[in-house]
Amino acid sequence: MIHTGRHFLQIPGPTNVPERVLRAMDHPVIDHRGPEFAALGTEVLQGMRHIFQTAGTVCIYPGSGTGAWEASLVNTLSPGDRVLLFETGQFSQLWREVAERMGLLVDYVPGNWRSGAVPEQAGTRLAEDRQHAIKAVLVVHNETSSGATSSIADIRRAIDRTRHPTLLIVDAVSSLASLDYRHDEWGVDVTVSGSQKGLMLPPGLCFNAISEKALAAGKSARLPRSYWDWQLMLGPNRSGFFPYTPATTLLYGLREALRMLQEEGLPQVFHRHNRHAEATRAAVNTWGLEIVCQNPREYSSALTAVFMPDGHNADHLRKVILEQFDMSLGAGLGRLAGKVFRIGHLGSFNDLMLAGTLSGVEMGLGLAGVPYRAGGVQAALDSLASSARTAQPVTPGV
Ligand SMILES: Cc1ncc(COP(=O)(O)O)c(C=O)c1O
Repeated sequence: MIHTGRHFLQIPGPTNVPERVLRAMDHPVIDHRGPEFAALGTEVLQGMRHIFQTAGTVCIYPGSGTGAWEASLVNTLSPGDRVLLFETGQFSQLWREVAERMGLLVDYVPGNWRSGAVPEQAGTRLAEDRQHAIKAVLVVHNETSSGATSSIADIRRAIDRTRHPTLLIVDAVSSLASLDYRHDEWGVDVTVSGSQKGLMLPPGLCFNAISEKALAAGKSARLPRSYWDWQLMLGPNRSGFFPYTPATTLLYGLREALRMLQEEGLPQVFHRHNRHAEATRAAVNTWGLEIVCQNPREYSSALTAVFMPDGHNADHLRKVILEQFDMSLGAGLGRLAGKVFRIGHLGSFNDLMLAGTLSGVEMGLGLAGVPYRAGGVQAALDSLASSARTAQPVTPGV
């Protein structure tokens, strides 16, 4: 089918890459050992600290989020170490598989794929662990398969109450630069992220933000590592360089994305995502469909995952919407396959893009024969209009 106009990429990452970033990447590749590169490397490493809300260390790797998961583990842990990992959905599941392949013993705290990690469970498990066998607590901040967030601040407090020396390692792949995320204030030891979501870049870069405690743990960690070794990276990074050939073009894009985020201001970025999420939920509720995330306190401002009514397949709906309106929506993942579709409203996005997105969903529901109540788009427009008039930056609770 021939489509005209612009494709709507409304999966929860990769996200739409803004023109400014595309143009910034349209740049001749330079000598990655020369002075121009050193200035670029220094600027993006510094800029990423601001995004992670940390004064500490950040590593930038050529790689995907999965690589950043591996980096967080191999730099801090040893074969046979126990880690406590909360089942939040498909991405906690995949992280678990990475950890197990590395030779770690995973205590997987069961979850229902509709809610975030329960901080009290972290407290209970750690209090029981008198020998301090658990070396790290692993949490996905924004579970991209369910659209449910976990309160990292509350998990930190639960850990602190037990005085357990565990590391706290957090996946912020789909929350960084979309939801408020505070590496230092929340006492996170390693934060894992990627370029293709809130940072508005193509896939291909991944990140670790690292506390002093995590760096110290690295001294005795015995998991084999080479490519991901923080220490090999940090030496050259001090003068803006990398130990191997960096993804120069993506770093030009990152520099531009960081400038855009700085111009808008992080509180405003978070506020924008909150407004779009709220308007999306207004549409979904009006349609009479069920949001996967059960607890309103845990609603994600990056994406909304929606259940199909019984007897209707989400992939059929997505196919109809792609063919008719040239819009890609996120598929249900893992055990939610076919049952759920996901609306991404993160990254480079605005009110009218959301209006178009929700219009495509509402028309698609009709064309695919899915029972729904009309008026979802109007409810979203009303929500956007009312929050535009009273626009104040707000800081989300999670
Ligand atoms: C929360 C979360 N963690 C990890 C990943 C894995 O990242 P990647 O696919 O870039 O390896 C994703 C990818 O969507 C994700 O959403």
